[in-house]
Amino acid sequence: MSSNSLTITDNRTGKQYEIPIENGTIRTMDLRKIKVADDDFGLMGYDPAFTNTASTKSNITFIDGDKGILRYRGYPIEQLAGKCTYLEVAYLILHGELPTEAQLKNWNWNITHHTFINENIKKVLDGFHYDAHPMGIFISTVSALSTFYPDAKNIFDAENRHKQIYRLIAKVATIAAFAYRHRIGLPYAYPDNDLSFTGNFLNMMFKTSELKYQPNPVLERALDVLFILHADHEQNCSTNSMRGIGSSHVDPYSALAGAAAALYGPLHGGANEAVLRMLSEIGTVDRIPEYIKRVKEGNFKLMGFGHRVYKNYDPRARIIKQVADEVFEVTGKDKLLDVALELERIALDDEYFVKRKLYPNVDFYSGIIYKAMGFPVEMFPVLFAIPRTSGWIAQWEEMLLDPEQKIARPRQVYLGSDERDFVPMENRNPS
Ligand code: CMC
Repeated sequence: MSSNSLTITDNRTGKQYEIPIENGTIRTMDLRKIKVADDDFGLMGYDPAFTNTASTKSNITFIDGDKGILRYRGYPIEQLAGKCTYLEVAYLILHGELPTEAQLKNWNWNITHHTFINENIKKVLDGFHYDAHPMGIFISTVSALSTFYPDAKNIFDAENRHKQIYRLIAKVATIAAFAYRHRIGLPYAYPDNDLSFTGNFLNMMFKTSELKYQPNPVLERALDVLFILHADHEQNCSTNSMRGIGSSHVDPYSALAGAAAALYGPLHGGANEAVLRMLSEIGTVDRIPEYIKRVKEGNFKLMGFGHRVYKNYDPRARIIKQVADEVFEVTGKDKLLDVALELERIALDDEYFVKRKLYPNVDFYSGIIYKAMGFPVEMFPVLFAIPRTSGWIAQWEEMLLDPEQKIARPRQVYLGSDERDFVPMENRNPS
């Protein structure tokens, strides 16, 4: 008997089974041989919300939630955030290695030269109501891209996939900025290919009558760091959606629209928007204890706190706090920062949060920085979606090329009615 295995005794039958252990996991398909009779379906695992189920092997992102460690392709997030641009990190996430100077130049050129969108996409954007949420516009417009690039269906052609990857990373920023401009009724500002990825994004967001928009270098760099921190985060809700939808072999635009929809929810990427609304509602430091009391009574959650994986300080939140200082030097300090700092101090000292290992996550401070930089709160989830696009497509490509992956299709435990006969309308009783 291998020592790297699990011996299971089925007390229903007295039979013993040996299940191999590989990479700290068992294959739940191995449980199927555990049966009480030949015609028994066999044992399954029951794991609502996948809290203890690995759905894939991956080489992209590593998280140690207990120690608060995050690495992309082995590189600590702190080093990448300190030394790279977002596009350099996007290259790393997608290709597995940091680019050489020539590779980075080529990569930047390709992304930069895919930032323009077909003029007809503007007509799609124009169809939205003036106060449409930019994340709703973003999701729908990314989905609409699949109709502009029908060749994207050739997902097993590597060259074709690369073209869609350039398009997606580049065009999500343009769509995001155009969604904002549409909402406030300003003419769309076209991409400026002389600028960096983040500099151009600021240009498309905020350019007005100047001939050439000059991004503030501190804010441009801060946005790069924020984008690096948001680029990937292994098998979270939206990435799982990207892989799940992509496993049907649909084109990447349709899959990415679904992933962005998953991100929109307040428990995921919509949390940054919810944090800012929460901080504004609290308003002043003296109202924090009452707010915390209501959280502990179970009335609502403290947004920007807690994480499925991190049971320690989210390393991204630590880096964001440093970025905040640099941004506030330029923009002036936001009064909500004092509320956030005090809220964090009180929560980290409170038994309720300590016992449950609830720490600030990436969304707790990002919104305050975005607000100081002039982004309206509705744009916050969109700002999350732009860089997460590189992570989504890296995970999508890894899934497509993984010979063990198939169409994602979980099982269920059926607890509904047993077979019963149809009841004619006149015989039905209101339940
Ligand atoms: N405020 C108050 N209590 C909380 C919070 C919170 N933010 N988060 C978790 N808890 C409590 C929860 O009620 C439960 O208590 P009990 O054991 O008494 O029932 C306990 O902590 C364990 O929480 P859980 O709900 O089992 O944790 P989860 O892994 O299912 O949920 C989460 C993770 C992020 C959805 C959750 O912590 C949450 O809703 N946080 C607020 C929303 C938020 O900030 N989301 C952004 C996540 S980070 C960015 C991203 O990747 O999307």
